[in-house]
Amino acid sequence: MSLFDFDAPPDRYAVIGNPVAHSKSPLIHRQFARQTGQRMEYEAILVEEGGLAQAIGNFQASGGKGLNITVPFKHEARQLMDECSEYAEHAGAVNTILFRQDGRRYGHNTDGIGLVRDIVINHGGTIEDSRILILGAGGAVHGVLEPILNERPAGIVIANRTVDKAIILAQSLTASIPVKACGYSALGESAFDLIINGTSASMKNELPPLPASVIAAQCWCYDMMYGDEPTIFMNWARDNGAVKYLDGLGMLVEQAAESFYLWRDVRPDTAPVINQLRKN
Ligand code: ATR
Repeated sequence: MSLFDFDAPPDRYAVIGNPVAHSKSPLIHRQFARQTGQRMEYEAILVEEGGLAQAIGNFQASGGKGLNITVPFKHEARQLMDECSEYAEHAGAVNTILFRQDGRRYGHNTDGIGLVRDIVINHGGTIEDSRILILGAGGAVHGVLEPILNERPAGIVIANRTVDKAIILAQSLTASIPVKACGYSALGESAFDLIINGTSASMKNELPPLPASVIAAQCWCYDMMYGDEPTIFMNWARDNGAVKYLDGLGMLVEQAAESFYLWRDVRPDTAPVINQLRKN
């Protein structure tokens, strides 16, 4: 930037999804920008099914610098990238796009990094050497597995209502850490140090059928969902002796911070933004 660039328009970013009006990403990124003094704009763009490629192309052609991609387009977005990070590759899904100066599209997935940073940095939790139970085997879980494995847990069990999906997911992983798959009824007497709910059940106020025996002494429970009230899974965790039961609001802000860092090369302070969202 030269001295004479003060009239240049701000760099433009957006989140693409459907629905997208409820997205907190514009609020989060605007707060990051204010806090770090970055000149940028961030909007939400509603895209109809079948319109993703066009929407990304239009935004890039109009000078946009980067995008977030949310439900239901993360997998499709992966197909529209020129290059991808390892995490996006493993997840088969992209939630962050950087438009490089030469026009190439770089796809990244910050969901798992956001989850790990929230547990380990914000809350001081431990993943390394922990016995981890992950509930669900859909896109949300697929997107976070690799960064969790990189923290070197003792082992992971993926439990899912549809057992075959859990088996396929476990088999797709190449890490040296043991990863098993099963249905809820097979959880038996196994106990875990960290239980992560990656199902969409909490959204419907439903609970996967978990035996209380999965909660080890000092167990932490983490719901990737969040809401105004503690989720049904968090209440179950509290009632069954978990020492911590957390929702996914911190993950949401941390994954956004990771996107912001990729785009702007500046790491924002997430704590004030998480606190602000809690008050809203
Ligand atoms: P997402 O992208 O949010 O992961 P998804 O791919 O539709 O969405 O996956 C939803 C996950 O939540 C799945 O693991 C689903 O279990 P099934 O694969 O058996 O369908 C899980 N899920 C949804 N509602 C559930 C419930 N009431 N009890 C247990 N698991 C549930």
